[in-house]
Amino acid sequence: MAKKVVLAYSGGLDTSVAVRWMAEEWGVDVVAVAVDVGQGGDFDVIRTRALAAGAVEVVVVDCIEQYANEYVVPALKVNALYEGRYPLVSSLSRPIIVEHMVDAARKFGADGVAHGCTGKGNDQVRFEVSTRALAPDLEVLAPVRTWGLTREDSIEYAERHNIPVNVTKASPYSIDENLWGKAIECGVLEDPWESAPEDVFTLTRPTATEPVELVIGFEAGVPVSVDGKAMGLAELVLHVGDIVGSYGWGRVDMVESRRVGIKSREVYECPGALALILAHQDLEGLTLERDVLHEKYRLEPRWAELVYDGMWHSPLKAALDAFVDETQKYVTGEVRLRCEPGRCAVAGRRSDVGLYDYGLATYDAADSFQHEDAAGFVRLWSLGVQTWANRQARP
Ligand code: ARG
Repeated sequence: MAKKVVLAYSGGLDTSVAVRWMAEEWGVDVVAVAVDVGQGGDFDVIRTRALAAGAVEVVVVDCIEQYANEYVVPALKVNALYEGRYPLVSSLSRPIIVEHMVDAARKFGADGVAHGCTGKGNDQVRFEVSTRALAPDLEVLAPVRTWGLTREDSIEYAERHNIPVNVTKASPYSIDENLWGKAIECGVLEDPWESAPEDVFTLTRPTATEPVELVIGFEAGVPVSVDGKAMGLAELVLHVGDIVGSYGWGRVDMVESRRVGIKSREVYECPGALALILAHQDLEGLTLERDVLHEKYRLEPRWAELVYDGMWHSPLKAALDAFVDETQKYVTGEVRLRCEPGRCAVAGRRSDVGLYDYGLATYDAADSFQHEDAAGFVRLWSLGVQTWANRQARP
């Protein structure tokens, strides 16, 4: 077994108990790595807690900008929605966390990494596949999968070892949040028929009453401005999310197919992600040539599935990224989103490099389309079907 391991540390009950439990049961030194991907929380408290739990080192990495530019951007360019609905919030953050765990493992001479996931979820898959892709020599430890502690046992363990975990504040939900949105599971949500109680929502509370319009500016597939004001991507995602979320828009409630074969009821709040995907997808309708657009549509679900399944670091994902990047060269322009209570929709779009040609599209006097060309085109287009109809369909 490994002697020194880097643990993905959230500051929650399970990972805090994991620090001490691995030290006691497996005799390993634990380096706790807390990665800030925009989940909020006080990292000084997290640092103190990890040390109190018995970590030999604590590393806090602020990587919100890196997450935005290297993980959110590719997901947005490909309009990534798992099963057509879920913008991959948790799936996107695990590979960047692993990237920083592996860095810490090298820096501190660790021979293993550890995570606090159970055996039933997708996150274990993402942690482990990414680790094996980036650092195949490192051992992977998963204490929560083996320790057999109930939640009550863990609380009792923490108390007995003076690990200061904030269980009074603990909600019945399992929550995972980052810049791209928030995932909410467990509690009453485990009955897929039961409505999600309003109090689970924090990013999409309906408070705004007057309609508003937002103009999102894109350059080569990346959003760069809102209402003409240039913004860094992380700031822009939060800003757009704040606005559209205040109309109570940006929720997903679905039964999802996990990689490990379980159907689970998931509730998400992703106002920024969903609004930006909506806008980006619309701008592609204006700027991408038809065959490119349609081929991209076919590949998008595959990309989302790969990343959901933990294959961020994989040859197929890299090849799809290259295709997607090639398609984004001219996805430049503006999209106007209109928000009303409970609703956010595209109200207009424009681009200097768009493929919309007024002369070709119009039915008024400015029409430049060669109408006489259509007859021959359609005759040949239907020729095969016509022959089939004559000889086979109606012999
Ligand atoms: N079902 C989502 C996914 O697999 C969300 C997972 C949330 N993770 C968590 N530890 N609560 O991507």
